[in-house]
Amino acid sequence: MLRPEWGLELACGGTNPHDSHAAIFNRLERRAPDPKRPHKKSKHPIEHFGYLDGVSQPMIKGLPRVKYAKEVRPETYQLHAVEPGEFVLGEKNERQIKTPYPELADFGKNGSFYVVRQMAQHVGAYNQMVKGLAAEIGDASEKSVLEDAAGKIMGRRRDGAPLTDMLPENKSLSSFSFAGRNSGGLQCPVSSHIRRANPRDSREDEPETSLRLSKRHRILRRGRIYGANADNDNFDAEDQDKQGVLFMCVNADIAQQFEFIQQTWLNNPTFAGVDGEVDPIVSGLEPSEKRFTAPARPRPAIVKRDKPLTTVKGGGYFFLPGKNALLWLAKQPAPAAPSDPTIKEK
Ligand code: HEM
Repeated sequence: MLRPEWGLELACGGTNPHDSHAAIFNRLERRAPDPKRPHKKSKHPIEHFGYLDGVSQPMIKGLPRVKYAKEVRPETYQLHAVEPGEFVLGEKNERQIKTPYPELADFGKNGSFYVVRQMAQHVGAYNQMVKGLAAEIGDASEKSVLEDAAGKIMGRRRDGAPLTDMLPENKSLSSFSFAGRNSGGLQCPVSSHIRRANPRDSREDEPETSLRLSKRHRILRRGRIYGANADNDNFDAEDQDKQGVLFMCVNADIAQQFEFIQQTWLNNPTFAGVDGEVDPIVSGLEPSEKRFTAPARPRPAIVKRDKPLTTVKGGGYFFLPGKNALLWLAKQPAPAAPSDPTIKEK
């Protein structure tokens, strides 16, 4: 039984939203320790397709280290700083209103919602797609061409480097935007995973509005791989269903954040003027969506997607209670023990 005096603020966040689950999640180590992996110095994990993961994250406005970032990395702050109400219930969000929550006994205050998806990754199908795109770009036997193709699919190179020019500030792997630097997706394809998952200021005609609206759909992400490490230097690695990633994210409004990203951006066959293709990493395969296009001159590189690269195996939505909710639960009378029909009353 939970008791108020057990120092719950340590477990679940106090009345201060900056100690809430969202803020604590944000501080969690992004890397699952794995001595066998290369890039040991990176603070980011490498997922089974071989990319650095967990790189681009929103910055929660008001947290001490975000205040510091505002001073030393103003351009990156401008791109990634998001109101706390996007992650903490009851705080001001990007719509400039307090994110609503269940009001009984302030139950939802400082809580968050947590999304988990177990996603199998089909490394063989991924490698086949990379090879197919590489053959459209140049000599697919060249490792550098294979890496170029891998970069186009994700929208980042596998070492995390962005495909668009960095902002002049150039302070982190997330210091890049799309507007004015990437006409028609020649550098970073419009259909690539990261561009769909966070279009940033993509709309050339209204970059500021585009960035403001994109910030209503940010999520705090973490990935933890499971299964044997795929050998991505061997592009003929056998396909297996036994490896994948546990995708986790925290947000204040699942419909407007996690689900919006999936439905309106990743799975949208007409996303940002694209016609008849969907996200190459996470989306399934409708008959009309079996290709991926990397714009190029003199002609685009187009590859057919014969198999999905990932399959959702399971998952769930969870409420992360704040301190108020736990205190309220702790004060409720214990339910009566169910009567045991095998014990006879004397
Ligand atoms: C097996 C499944 C997935 C894999 C392998 C994967 C991999 C990646 C990688 C390598 C990146 C680029 C590095 C980074 O910024 O972290 C990335 C970015 C991202 N992914 Fe995924 N991802 C998967 C599923 C998803 C799902 C289901 C969603 C949401 C519905 C999602 C949302 C995002 C977002 C929001 C970004 C950051 C975009 C940005 O701000 O630049 N991903 N993902």
